[in-house]
Amino acid sequence: MTRSNDLFQQARQTMPGGISHRYRWRLPNPLYVTRAQGAHKWDADGNRYIDYKMGAASQMMGHCHPEITAALQAQAGEAIFAADCNPIEVDWSRKICDMVPSVDQVRFTASGTESTMLAIRIARAFTGRDRILRVDGHYHGWHDHVMKGAKAGSDVPPSLGVPDAIAALTDICPPDAALLNSMLGSGKYAAVLVEASGANYGAVPMAQEILTAAQSAAHANGSLLILDEIITGFRWSPGGRQALAGVTPDLTTMAKIVTGGMPGGAVGGTAKVMAMLDPSVTTRGHTPGVLHQGTFNGAPIVAVAGSVMMDLLADGSAQAHADRIAADIRAGVNALFAKHGIEGLCYGESSTFHLWFGPHNGSMNDISASAIRSPVPKLVTALQDALNRNGVDLMSAMSAVTSAVHNDDDVADTLAAFDRALPEIPAALEAR
Ligand SMILES: Cc1ncc(COP(=O)(O)O)c(C=O)c1O
Repeated sequence: MTRSNDLFQQARQTMPGGISHRYRWRLPNPLYVTRAQGAHKWDADGNRYIDYKMGAASQMMGHCHPEITAALQAQAGEAIFAADCNPIEVDWSRKICDMVPSVDQVRFTASGTESTMLAIRIARAFTGRDRILRVDGHYHGWHDHVMKGAKAGSDVPPSLGVPDAIAALTDICPPDAALLNSMLGSGKYAAVLVEASGANYGAVPMAQEILTAAQSAAHANGSLLILDEIITGFRWSPGGRQALAGVTPDLTTMAKIVTGGMPGGAVGGTAKVMAMLDPSVTTRGHTPGVLHQGTFNGAPIVAVAGSVMMDLLADGSAQAHADRIAADIRAGVNALFAKHGIEGLCYGESSTFHLWFGPHNGSMNDISASAIRSPVPKLVTALQDALNRNGVDLMSAMSAVTSAVHNDDDVADTLAAFDRALPEIPAALEAR
């Protein structure tokens, strides 16, 4: 038995399924990572992987970036968390406001899920409306208010325990400008909530124009645009995808990179909307309009990492490098699909790459969100196992992110791994 397998057997006794996150579940055992440095990580059995998970897309500057690690070490000796205001969050918030076009003010949270939960509450409070419109299959975390619509092609929450009364407050729309326009035209929505990249960091591609359409339809009908930049923020560009698309959402949700790869998140927005959180402002008899607490919000040990990360990403060069690495991988994998006679496409924007196995016309335009988001389990397992055996780990079944520290040797080694792994795939495809 391997050490990883032994750990999994122990873990299953004390944690349900042995895991702390649904998508870490894997048989015969998940990866148990003991060390992660730069673009690489090592498991409990000493195997090395080129990492394209990168802390669920949070470690944009690579694992244990020297400046972030040094800042964390210094801060750990000063104050980890006192539950008071601290000077570092002031500095950090200024940097975020300077980088993200629509953000006048920011409120820190303890996770991305908390960020979308707070943004929805603010939108409801600001507009006095309860209903939310969201885009089919976009992911916004795991709280009750974003479960319905999280599974592409389904209007049933993909979890028990979500009250019907909550699910009934959400309507789902495909990423279609005309439909967004007509649904928002009903004037009943507090907000339209959109994952800036399209579902699952762009696995289901979404044209930038959808963001513009969502913004104008929302504003024409008294709704807010909540843009979920929890993956795209500071990655697509220093100002996120909104800076590229020229949209200025009322609220932006952030996490992962904004916190320097530490646990936490943030909601940013226009001063007018963020005033709902200001205890010096009374709205309809509530002071402040929206109650928001959270023990670890803005903790200095998180703020210090976030603040350094903002500096490292401010000029866009790190993002440009990560984009170029992802583009090289996409081109290389597509050449390997051709070499091995596999019908498939490696595609994506920015510093991501996604894999599609099946017929296509050179783009993903005609492939439904539910088809993209429901790969055959046998295929997923075959691909993950084959890539892992060859020293590569992707972020999720068919998707991956690059970082500022992946280099050309990593690309060459990754393509060599795909070259060895792809011949194992046709058998899995036949099982469809
Ligand atoms: C677009 C998006 N929104 C929200 C979340 C939820 O963030 P967290 O996992 O920090 O709760 C994620 C997490 O992957 C995400 O990708």
